[in-house]
Amino acid sequence: MPEHITEHLGNWKRTNYCGDITASQIGKDITLMGWVQRRRDHGGLIFIDLRDRTGLVQIVFNPANDKQTHEKAHHIRSEFVIAVKGSVSKRPAGTENLNLKTGEIEIIVKELKILNDAAPLPFLIEDDIDANESVRLKYRYLDLRRPALQKNIILRHRICKVVRDFLCDKGFIEIETPMLTKSTPEGARDFLVPSRLNPGNFYALPQSPQLFKQILMVSGFDRYFQIVRCFRDEDLRADRQPEFTQIDAEMSFVDKDDVMDIMEKLIAEIFANAADKKLALPFPRLAYQDAVNRFGLDSPDVRFGLELKDVTDIVKDSGFKVFKDAAGKGGIIKAINAKNCAEFSRKELDELTEFANTFGAKGLAWVKITKDGWQSPIAKFLTDAEKDSIAKIADAGVGDLLLFVADAPKIANTALGRVRLNLAQRLNLIPKDTFNFVWVTDFPLLEYDETEKRFVAVHHPFTAPADEDISKLDTKPLEVRAKAYDLVLNGSEIGGGSIRIHRQDIQSMIFDKLGISKDEAKLKFGFLLDALEFGTPPHGGIAFGLDRLCAIICNEPSIRDVIAFPKTQKGTCLMTDAPSPVDKGQLDELSIRLKVEVLK
Ligand code: AMO
Ligand code: AMP
Repeated sequence: MPEHITEHLGNWKRTNYCGDITASQIGKDITLMGWVQRRRDHGGLIFIDLRDRTGLVQIVFNPANDKQTHEKAHHIRSEFVIAVKGSVSKRPAGTENLNLKTGEIEIIVKELKILNDAAPLPFLIEDDIDANESVRLKYRYLDLRRPALQKNIILRHRICKVVRDFLCDKGFIEIETPMLTKSTPEGARDFLVPSRLNPGNFYALPQSPQLFKQILMVSGFDRYFQIVRCFRDEDLRADRQPEFTQIDAEMSFVDKDDVMDIMEKLIAEIFANAADKKLALPFPRLAYQDAVNRFGLDSPDVRFGLELKDVTDIVKDSGFKVFKDAAGKGGIIKAINAKNCAEFSRKELDELTEFANTFGAKGLAWVKITKDGWQSPIAKFLTDAEKDSIAKIADAGVGDLLLFVADAPKIANTALGRVRLNLAQRLNLIPKDTFNFVWVTDFPLLEYDETEKRFVAVHHPFTAPADEDISKLDTKPLEVRAKAYDLVLNGSEIGGGSIRIHRQDIQSMIFDKLGISKDEAKLKFGFLLDALEFGTPPHGGIAFGLDRLCAIICNEPSIRDVIAFPKTQKGTCLMTDAPSPVDKGQLDELSIRLKVEVLK
């Protein structure tokens, strides 16, 4: 391209955004700036779709108006950055484009400045592109020009604005907490940062601001919030990034209901303002045990039925050894009725069985109920009375398919709960465009970790036990319920929180129960235990996963699509190439020697 073609912006000022121009502005002179979506030459006339973050508008170069400008327009290619002065004009009858917001009008160009050129593109800037995700992530700045991604990022901004407005209005104070800190146990691995000034010592990036927000309550701030980055070195999935954002809040002098009440109002405000959706409050609540019994998982998708049924009592003495043995070992047998699925092929059943196996199930027994009776490898082991009772409890009739998992409760519930979700997808049972919220409450405080041979906290070690259960801590620790709550939206955990322990003696007791010695507690959380001694108010809070919430509102399957610069499943940034090796000199300064030479 000839060098003299690009020009300086000079004193040109943009007067309008492309997508906002309407027929009411016909006849007006305007100045637009943006990117060239596409150029078409039509026997003399040159048409360009000009794009900015608000949308597209058609601009027209006519040689009859100004030969020089028209000549310049010949040099324009896709994604050039241009500025035009022109007048808004009604499109000739029959040339309107009803698919475009600005389709009634066009801009007749009088002056043009080409502000910058663009190299040939690795993919087109369009919503329906088939470029693979790694190319899109490498050229993230181009991907972010696509209207769909721009819409997501702008919606995310609006959500943050609603959060700030709502919480400020309710007296919450936005306070930042350190990024270079000591690790807080939230169940994941920490990202560590070496300290040059303190050789051999490391900061951890926060998994959440949990302890700082509690300490802010000790400091008397009463109501805190922050839209904050958190870091967790865990295996990544569509809904998990190594760095993600929480809407984090904490309140003093409150109980569970106070936190849930104000926070569901916040969620309703977000949906009203950012998704134009009125939510019915209060959200339904489901006790953890009921969620697991009925849906198999503690983040139940309640948009459809297909509930799990417990048939342990019916089959515990049956002739089918798998069921009998499982029940004998304290396990359970759960069933699900896939209505009208008796026609499933062998292949489909094998796929489902394999799927159940990935969640630890040892098999997936099946029964097809046909007009000739029960068709199944296990039918011969069951009596008519057992069959009748199962059919009754599962509400099963001719044409239905029953699926069973027999195992320890956790495995049986999880595996069948996952099969339930898989079936719902196969059978198209999940209604579109519904937002189904449920609070899951009454979690157990502790669970037993078989590999570590000790109790671990189901939420985190600072969660308060239910007042009426404290006496069971020594006798029946697994029956102690926590003052914890999760908010689940369409089967996805979008938030979780609890009332905290505010008394030093109870916090020490819980550390003790978790097998954390006094010395270890002092080393790891001494600052919290100290703080709890100086007049700590009762307090509690919650954190929402902003990325997950945005992804659901934007109807995106992955949180990568609502994060401007996300990482891959392997935790890498394809645009910047992070993480990457560093100079030996940098390592020397940090007193770090690599055990393994990193091969280039
Ligand atoms: P929790 O660990 O449940 O609670 O985290 C709160 C919410 O954050 C989201 N989330 C994630 N989102 C994307 N990628 C991840 N890797 C990821 N991990 C979690 C989830 C989750 O519900 N300090 C407590 C909160 C409290 O008790 O107040 C905490 O961090 O949506
Ligand atoms: P088998 O007798 O082991 O061949 O199993 C007969 C059927 O029972 C097969 O369909 C298996 O998938 C199923 N099965 C085996 N173990 C279990 C289990 N723990 N729970 C549910 N079904 C099982």
